[in-house]
Amino acid sequence: MPSTTPIADGADLTLATITAWLRETDAAALAELFDAADRTRRRNVGDEVQLRGLIELSNHCRRQCAYCGIARDRKDLTRYRLDREQILECAATAKRLGYQTVVMQAGEDPAIRADEMAGIIREIKSRHDVAITLSLGERNDDEFQLWRDAGADRYLIRFETSDHDLYDIIHPSLPYRLSDRVAILKRLREIGYEIGSGVMIGLPGQRWEDLARDILLFRELDLDMIGVGPYLPHPDTPLGRGDVGREIDPDEQVPNTEEMTYKVVALTRLACPEANIPSTTALATINKGLGRELGLMRGANVVMPNVTPSDCRIHYEIYPAKACITESAEACFACMLGRIHALGRRVATGKGYRGGRNTRN
Ligand code: 5AD
Ligand code: FES
Repeated sequence: MPSTTPIADGADLTLATITAWLRETDAAALAELFDAADRTRRRNVGDEVQLRGLIELSNHCRRQCAYCGIARDRKDLTRYRLDREQILECAATAKRLGYQTVVMQAGEDPAIRADEMAGIIREIKSRHDVAITLSLGERNDDEFQLWRDAGADRYLIRFETSDHDLYDIIHPSLPYRLSDRVAILKRLREIGYEIGSGVMIGLPGQRWEDLARDILLFRELDLDMIGVGPYLPHPDTPLGRGDVGREIDPDEQVPNTEEMTYKVVALTRLACPEANIPSTTALATINKGLGRELGLMRGANVVMPNVTPSDCRIHYEIYPAKACITESAEACFACMLGRIHALGRRVATGKGYRGGRNTRN
């Protein structure tokens, strides 16, 4: 028997109802949840799928996030950093493939100089009519402002979990400042970015109510973009090895499964109807056959095909067996296109701001 009440579109999602849905296992009830999310997606952001070309600029990182395969302490990882010309080349590839947004992501790499980055943003904007999303970690307000002034449109920074104890266990702070990503998101919004965040699903020590609170925080922050994916243990990390963590009642532990991910994608769509929600690479990694499609059918409306040069992207190993790691930019494009058309959906023609709009509000 389903333990949840039937879900209406725009349902009144509270801590209790979200938690009940996260724990729901009845197949018919879940089918109803997924349908409600799909209808809400269509009504609010339409049938177009936004393609965002992802450039992984650098896998150097000064942080030690306990789950992450490119954290500072991964000594045996080959490190790379794209130079200006390589980045401009990737942006040109993205544009040639028809992508209307370029996402520049990296580890928290201080050698990515703020002024050089601003120059690159300006150059991409002068050469191509594209939106620019940045995902470069926790930087200073001055840097966020400089990049915004140079033309960056959006910034992504996941808060990973809204539970402060769990957050602190898996995110050692830098010695000279506390890590407060929610405060950063609020600053980014003030500076004028569209803001994106998200969490991992099934982190060791993550309880059902913690995850329900994450979804409520997505709504409270009024996020424009929300990325969620399963936690995938990396064997060469403290969390993957089990060296850090917190003890909780096993019945409280959220599983890091494919089905949990769909539930969170669907509930996120219902909580934030206008948001851009990707069907993530982590989801495609646990189900290489159909993960991307099922994400798109259960609330998601964005995919982020990789345009990083193939010889570099193999080193951007945040978790093992990552999808799309060996494919070229062209192969990923062809693959995504096939998947989108097979669903009867189409590739977006505009820049895809929040709510399916092609210009900022
Ligand atoms: N498993 C799943 N997702 C991960 N990320 C980092 N490491 C892992 C992992 N081991 C996610 C984080 C980060 C994003 C870029 O990738 O949520 O914000
Ligand atoms: Fe990259 Fe399918 S999307 S290979």
